[in-house]
Amino acid sequence: MNKFPQQVNNKVVLVRTDFNVSLEEGEVVDSYRMEQTIPTIKKLVEEEAKVVLMSHLGRPLRSDESKYEFSLQPLVSKLEELLGQEVIFVEDCIGPKVKRRVDGLKKGQVMLLENVRFYKGERENDSGFAQKLADLADIYINDAFGVSHRAHASVEAVTNYLPSYPGLSMQKEINELKAVINDPDRPLSIIIGGSKVKTKVKALKPLLEQADHLLLGGMIANMILRAKGISINKPLPKEEVAQEIDALDLTSNKLHLPVDVVVSPTESGDVYTKQAAPGTIKKKEKILDIGPDTIEMFNEIINESAMVVWNGPLGVFEKEDFAQGTKQVGEATVESEAYSIAGGGDTSAALLKFDLRSKFDHVSVGGGAMLEFLTGQELPAIKALNDD
Ligand code: 3PG
Repeated sequence: MNKFPQQVNNKVVLVRTDFNVSLEEGEVVDSYRMEQTIPTIKKLVEEEAKVVLMSHLGRPLRSDESKYEFSLQPLVSKLEELLGQEVIFVEDCIGPKVKRRVDGLKKGQVMLLENVRFYKGERENDSGFAQKLADLADIYINDAFGVSHRAHASVEAVTNYLPSYPGLSMQKEINELKAVINDPDRPLSIIIGGSKVKTKVKALKPLLEQADHLLLGGMIANMILRAKGISINKPLPKEEVAQEIDALDLTSNKLHLPVDVVVSPTESGDVYTKQAAPGTIKKKEKILDIGPDTIEMFNEIINESAMVVWNGPLGVFEKEDFAQGTKQVGEATVESEAYSIAGGGDTSAALLKFDLRSKFDHVSVGGGAMLEFLTGQELPAIKALNDD
């Protein structure tokens, strides 16, 4: 893979960022992802490049209403604050008008283009769309590790039309996560929680092979408890999820499922703990966190680990009643001697809430991307940079 480009003075550098942040009333709630790209942008500004930033935000449909909801314009003031300089916003990302604005840039100026997912060519990895993006610039940099598991035009096809390089954040992510695959500190514990069951369930088998301990909580654990008949509070997993669960060695002594869970019956809203044993969890009891015995069991394993990698909260951490699993396991991780890596939007938000994020050794901007990377797959956007 190329290193950072050498000659950028007076060149238009198109930088793909992952500014997929949450917004509340037009304000950025958590700018962590934006902050990770600042070193790349600042380096380009210092070296007098003309910097053109592009990103996706959310998964917009093509209606005018969703264009408003998913516009990148509300990010401009936060970006200006982080960079300490003006950011020019352009309400489109391709076409002659955008090209004229880009041509008018002076050395060291920074421009942000509108959401690339407003064009369906982005998600279709369309070469025509990619070419139009490439027409704007002389050099391409990908600093969006969080979306590198997608073969989308602004991270994959675009590399066919411009000299392409990884940004500083992308390089850091690759180095950190490569070490987990190639030469992890052992014992290595991997914690998987959160939702997005369909995506995560596929990663479990390779992760179980790689890890010394695989600790499961959140929806993914609930689904396995359901498949094993321990809980009956949900419909059985869909065929493709059930197949992945079947392929897992559930008897492996490396695999750790919750032994107790915090539940709340839908009709009363009471909150209590139950053992995760066959026949205990009833149809109307929703599992919303791991229980105290599970927390203790997980924390003992973490204390003996040399490396901990975590993706996905262990319960509904936003609510006080269901936050203990995520909070206490997070605390045990940072208090342990283990090298700690976390990734994913919800995990990152949970760690911030419990004031733990800055205490992790590395917090990846990728959720799905981090998991896919850790299973040893070559991610399409990274492959595209390697092939360049
Ligand atoms: C993320 O939030 O994980 C990345 O920005 C990718 O977003 P996506 O899942 O909508 O492709």
